[in-house]
Amino acid sequence: MSSKKKNKNHGIPRIGDKAPDFTAITTDGEITFSDWQGDSWVVLFSHPADFTPVCTTELCEFAKKSDEFAKRNTKLIGLSIDSIHSHLAWRENIKEKLGIELPYPLIADLDTRVAQKYGMIHPNESSTVTVRAVFLIDPSRTIQALIYYPLSNGRNIDEVLRLVDSLQTSAAHGVATPVNWCPGESVVVPPPKTTEAVKERAGKDYKHVDFYLAFKELEDQAT
Ligand code: BEZ
Repeated sequence: MSSKKKNKNHGIPRIGDKAPDFTAITTDGEITFSDWQGDSWVVLFSHPADFTPVCTTELCEFAKKSDEFAKRNTKLIGLSIDSIHSHLAWRENIKEKLGIELPYPLIADLDTRVAQKYGMIHPNESSTVTVRAVFLIDPSRTIQALIYYPLSNGRNIDEVLRLVDSLQTSAAHGVATPVNWCPGESVVVPPPKTTEAVKERAGKDYKHVDFYLAFKELEDQAT
């Protein structure tokens, strides 16, 4: 393992780190994360607790958007420090009361093993439950982005989806994406690093604003 991939003792794996592997009990049975992931992207998210209102809205929204994630070769998996019995009962309750089936597994992390590996417990927020963490992991199991929200505020699942699009576009085309970028919009060409590259770039069919800021259209965007 290269030194870049070693997760130092800072508690939270960071962008560019290898996502920690683990074996855990989930609502789909026991999984080893790396096997379960296969060659997909993954959105691994934690919620504070089952049978709580904000979490219920978030998990339902992930369910409603699950086809959109699947279209992007992206698997969803949730986690909280709850028992498998609690997860199963909550899923049933959501189905009964809201008519929504959660089509992704939930990890029952009662011993907090996975939450600790991913730095999902922020003791000054709560020492007993996970915060609202989201890890976006690419098919090589490298963490490409992470988001943390406190207990009191629900995430924007459309933003998670937009971030998947954005990361996948960067990975596929070697470009960056500007503020509020959405699929179909022009992307940012990474700035030149040499005088030669500045000259070469000037002759390209980009929308040039200045030597460091240029946009281009992508012809074959996946979404
Ligand atoms: C909620 O999901 O509603 C929630 C969970 C834990 C603390 C506060 C709110």
